[in-house]
Amino acid sequence: MVSLQHLAFIMDGNGRWATSRGLPRLAGHKAGAEALQRVVAEVVAQNIPVASFYAFSTENWQRPAAEVTGIFALLEHYFTHELAKLQKHNVRLIFIGDHTETSPLTPQTKRMMHQAQATTASNTGTALLIALNYGGHDELARAAAKLQTAGTPITAAALAGALDTAGYPPPDMVIRTSGEQRLSGFMPWQSAYAELYFTPTLWPDMAAEQVQAALGWYATRKRRFGAV
Ligand code: FPP
Repeated sequence: MVSLQHLAFIMDGNGRWATSRGLPRLAGHKAGAEALQRVVAEVVAQNIPVASFYAFSTENWQRPAAEVTGIFALLEHYFTHELAKLQKHNVRLIFIGDHTETSPLTPQTKRMMHQAQATTASNTGTALLIALNYGGHDELARAAAKLQTAGTPITAAALAGALDTAGYPPPDMVIRTSGEQRLSGFMPWQSAYAELYFTPTLWPDMAAEQVQAALGWYATRKRRFGAV
């Protein structure tokens, strides 16, 4: 078995899933939240130590206000009501992204994140990193600013240690759904040596079988990390 410490997901295609059914986009996000439950269950069943999910980018605020509000209502509902299940599976939740005073996240969202992280903080199973108000450029800029403020020389190791993902291994594989073949700012530093897996499956159609197919493909990859 090829070692896999961190599996990352760029969840894409909720809108197209809904539109193709004549449904409002929010119905796609709701189905996306259900897909997230199935994928998390599979990641836990596969004993994957770290899994990350791109839930809301620093650019997603440009969407219509009603869609943004709807996505956050879903996120708050999911991470409040799914908490007991995540607890039962020994899952630890960590939110990454800009959650500072100046971020556009509402106090309600911040409370939900704090509660979910605190409740699951001592769990020792799969760590779920949820990227919320996350952007790769933004993360790197915040990390560099942190080092500058502390007067720490900017080395690769220092930068990695100042990222939101400090202490977690970099993604071994990034899975993007819906046929788009780009990273859209997801963990640009950490994904430097990741295997990239693109599937035409729309996120709301993701289930255990699709995760297994990606893991099967990963097992065939020869990772060289720049060596021969
Ligand atoms: C991507 O599809 C989805 C998002 C950017 C929204 C965030 C993700 C979810 C709502 C799913 C997971 C979970 C919870 C708990 C709410 P898109 O809207 O970009 O789709 P499109 O490219 O087809 O328009």
